[in-house]
Amino acid sequence: MKFKTLCGILLLCVAFSYGALAQTPVNQIGNVTAVKVDGQQINLSLNNAEAQIIVYSANIIRVRVDRKKLGDDFSYAVTGKAQKVKTIITQSDSSISISTDSLKAIVRKKPFLISFYTVDGKLINEDDKGLSTSWAGDAVTSYKKMQDDEHFIGLGEKTGNLDRKGSGYTNWNSDVYGYAVSADPLYSTIPFYMGLHHDLNYGIFLDNTYQSDFNFGASNNRFSSFGARGGILNYYFIYHKRVADIIRSYTDLTGRMPMPPLWSLGYQQNRYSYYPETEVMRIANTLREKKIPADGITLDIHYMDAYKLFTWNKDRFPNPLKMNTELNKLGFKTTVIVDPGIKVEKGAGAYERGIRDNVYIKYPDGEPYTGQVWPGWCNFPDFTSIKGRAWWRNEVKFFSESGVSGIWNDMNEIATWGQKMPDNVLFDYDGKPTSHLQAHNVYGLQMARSSYEGAREQFKERPFILTRSGYAGLQRYTALWTGDNRGEDDHMLAGVRLINSLGLSGVAFAGMDIGGFTGNPTTALYTRWIALGAFTPYFRNHTALNTKAAEPWSFGEDVLDIARNYISLRYQLMPYIYAGFYEAAQSGLPVMRSLAINYTHDPKILDTQFQNQYEFGNAFMVAPFESAKEFGKVYFPAGTWYDLYSDGLQRGNEEKIIQLAINKLPVFVKGGSIIPQQSLVQSTSQKPGDTLTVHVYKGEVSNSFVYYEDDGKSYAYEKGVFYKRQISFDPVLKEIVFHQIEGSYKSNFRFLKIALHGFGATSSISVNQQQKNLIDDKFAWMGVSNNPDLQANPNAPESCTIKSILIKNEDGAITLKY
Ligand code: NOJ
Repeated sequence: MKFKTLCGILLLCVAFSYGALAQTPVNQIGNVTAVKVDGQQINLSLNNAEAQIIVYSANIIRVRVDRKKLGDDFSYAVTGKAQKVKTIITQSDSSISISTDSLKAIVRKKPFLISFYTVDGKLINEDDKGLSTSWAGDAVTSYKKMQDDEHFIGLGEKTGNLDRKGSGYTNWNSDVYGYAVSADPLYSTIPFYMGLHHDLNYGIFLDNTYQSDFNFGASNNRFSSFGARGGILNYYFIYHKRVADIIRSYTDLTGRMPMPPLWSLGYQQNRYSYYPETEVMRIANTLREKKIPADGITLDIHYMDAYKLFTWNKDRFPNPLKMNTELNKLGFKTTVIVDPGIKVEKGAGAYERGIRDNVYIKYPDGEPYTGQVWPGWCNFPDFTSIKGRAWWRNEVKFFSESGVSGIWNDMNEIATWGQKMPDNVLFDYDGKPTSHLQAHNVYGLQMARSSYEGAREQFKERPFILTRSGYAGLQRYTALWTGDNRGEDDHMLAGVRLINSLGLSGVAFAGMDIGGFTGNPTTALYTRWIALGAFTPYFRNHTALNTKAAEPWSFGEDVLDIARNYISLRYQLMPYIYAGFYEAAQSGLPVMRSLAINYTHDPKILDTQFQNQYEFGNAFMVAPFESAKEFGKVYFPAGTWYDLYSDGLQRGNEEKIIQLAINKLPVFVKGGSIIPQQSLVQSTSQKPGDTLTVHVYKGEVSNSFVYYEDDGKSYAYEKGVFYKRQISFDPVLKEIVFHQIEGSYKSNFRFLKIALHGFGATSSISVNQQQKNLIDDKFAWMGVSNNPDLQANPNAPESCTIKSILIKNEDGAITLKY
């Protein structure tokens, strides 16, 4: 062979083997080589990994996979323990079968593949046969075969469509000032989503705090996938027939919200920033004077001395305790912002205490990490360490001593100028030291947790905690708002989808900056947005530093009327809203509900023209539209629907074009709904009148509502000091029943007014077998019968005529038959 030819062959060989090397960085999991069954857990050895399959409950199977030996189990998200349940495990040479009463998993051994089935053998979800689980570098990914007509919902604070099919997402908590409506990632990580196909629904929660990536058929038509750029593959597979039950199981794992303080459900007035004290008092007094009900005033960074944590600027706020006490007397609670950055300043109180207690995150050489944010160069407490959290809890005393009621955790992604926090910063991670790469996505969660626990220790009453950044499980400690949106129409609608998605992902208490944070909304947009805000869980108006004023009176008299109408409506609906939060605390079901919860397999609800419609509690359906639109198309899912204002009837399974009016947010009531309403108050600290109106909307199917009251502020409810009563409507038995009372709290209401909608010419009703006459009432949810101050309000939508009856609120069961 000639020398030249030999060289050619050699070169080809080198090129070929280089090419082959470049192909191998994806390592497959391989075959199962050994199986050990240990009760409800199966330990597997594989060619290239170790795995555990753990039956967590009858509906949850957990999968853990690592290339190394599987280490100890630790999670910041999961608090629910595995339950002992009936589990049947059998195996053959080729597979292992794991069955519970509700779910079956089959593990194929060569290669490792897992599929999930219903107990009657329907395929719910399966690994992609060729791709299974693999590693590319340190990134581990599980590939699931895309089922026919499969759709995806959830994944927490993610932009885009309700149906996530065709999209891919990354979780890396980020400070995204004035983000685009399509931006990803935003501030929070909740690696939990649901898949829907063939009347089957499942949830997958990937509990891994490294940067994680989800692909729902983005630029591929083969698989959906999830994985993380470090750590182990650790996911929970949840199966239930109903989306609501999947959310319940997910929140069995990651926890639920505690009952919020009632005041935090009232209207919250924010701006970046209200100062000095005279300005704060002017805002509070103006709200009262203009009869705009409100409960909260929020102080942004300018309350501090040069933005230094745990200080007051004494020129602006000479006596914070006195101011907050005065605000309390006016029916307001104060929330203050906190950022994690502690200014590096010799001799400064908080900074020195942090050094003394050795709480700051550090580089590997022991020097604290220093990053720049509002106060200048800062150190940052390690909220993933026991001592860091204890230090913060103690610092929170500063706020209880100043009469503060709420803590707003901001900039906790961590946000620093430059936004490139180094990878080599070390965190304690509760005794398992790790780098920024693993701790980043839980920093916000752990900060909010520390604030909550501090406030729970130091505050006399239930605190309100708000966060911008978080991780799965954040609902146990805090509400969340969707950060620095823009005063633009598509942000209002994107905000609706963000809150709905958060609700699907265990976070019931969420909100957005009403009116938009950056930029100036048009008058029409502001009006539409504030009306919509009344139908969101956390209702706050906020705007940035250099924007125009955005208080409800800043856009003219008509807007003021409309804003007042909707804020007043929210206060009248407070018994309904509070019961919605009770439900969230009990079952994890959100207050603001994507239609995917109750109408999961109706394909119309995923259609982008209807995807912004949502339910607020179980009774209302809200249809938000851009502010300049004159007409909008609404989809009415199955059932009977009523126009909120006119009581006009609308059949379900229909689309309808409606005329839009700026004073009238499109809201509809589902037939069968039960809605308690109280008299108008200006703040939740004011006692409402002694009659609770209970609206019942006639429907074709029976329905029930759990009415719930407690003192709205203490923890006594945890010991049974609440008033709870189921109210049911049954169209077959033709009855409305107020069931026996549970709990030891005395209701605020001595009388019940039953308001009947859609019951036609019925003129009498029996109450506990005694026949009584019904009264004809002119009724409007806003502006006429229930609010004498507003009778002349030209911006109140129309009223309707209903039948009603007033009865005593007896403790025993009350049965009304029509
Ligand atoms: C960023 C927050 O997202 C915003 O709401 C706040 O007003 C500013 N930080 C100033 O504190």
